[in-house]
Amino acid sequence: MLMPVLLANAEVRDEYLIAGMRMLREGAHAGDVAEYVARLVEDDPEEHTVGYGGYPNVLGEVELDASFMDGTTLQAGAVAALKGFRHPISVAREVMRRLPHVLLVGEGAARFAREIGAEPREMLSPEARRAWQEHVGMLRDAPDTIALTWQAWRHARGHDTMNVIARDMHGNLCTAVSTSGVAWKYPGRVGDSPLIGAGNYCDSRYGAATCMGLGEAAMRLAAAAQAVTLLRLGWSLVAAGVEVTRQLAQLLGRSRAEHPMRVADWVRVLIMDAQGNVGGFATRDDLCYKVITAETATPLTQRVMCVSVG
Ligand code: GLY
Repeated sequence: MLMPVLLANAEVRDEYLIAGMRMLREGAHAGDVAEYVARLVEDDPEEHTVGYGGYPNVLGEVELDASFMDGTTLQAGAVAALKGFRHPISVAREVMRRLPHVLLVGEGAARFAREIGAEPREMLSPEARRAWQEHVGMLRDAPDTIALTWQAWRHARGHDTMNVIARDMHGNLCTAVSTSGVAWKYPGRVGDSPLIGAGNYCDSRYGAATCMGLGEAAMRLAAAAQAVTLLRLGWSLVAAGVEVTRQLAQLLGRSRAEHPMRVADWVRVLIMDAQGNVGGFATRDDLCYKVITAETATPLTQRVMCVSVG
């Protein structure tokens, strides 16, 4: 039997990871554990970038993105701009199971969620509504939604995302990524989280990678797939993480010149290799990740390796 490991962004509460590790120790499949932990985070009203309580788009509507990948079968499922369902991660996993497709968006994703009996929910919490009213609802002079988005981004709360990578005792790796995306985004904006290869990639033979932060950067570099490809080519976990993050840092530097991006111009990449070794890499140095194994009672919080360009 192999050592179960759970890796997540540091914002995920310890108790969720402890519960997930209990399942792994009892023999649960990595996919069930990744989904379980993601569902707990999606229900957490204090997590303002994932699921219920996530900050809405610029019109005040919560649009959710999520993806699931099974690294042993290379099957994947994802939803983007999904409105009104409690657990986008489970809808994403069901896309993988029930359709010959990987990604459903918007109305199609909602239709599918209804058809499979996914639980509907108003996802805008009172607190998220208040934050939107405070920062965006007061903006009255924008001529259109494009201008409104740029005005609102002055007040953007940044990006965050839930990343979970699970390895079970049989060596299966699975990944779950879920987010409400960047606060006050343009309606229909989709980030890296539901895009297999950009914010999520998993192959049990080599490893898995997930991203948080500015999705537009991870998308432009297919960052998660790149990290796993480097592992496949024999790079060490640290070398792969540093290389992908170095490219992200360079791209972010160029992005600042391309656009007056005032928010979340950072990316964090979490990586687990096939042996269960883990690492976190980011373009800023104040970010952390959490890891728990079958041998540790509580998650260990580790600071990322910061990779910036001069
Ligand atoms: N990384 C999450 C997003 O940009 O939507």
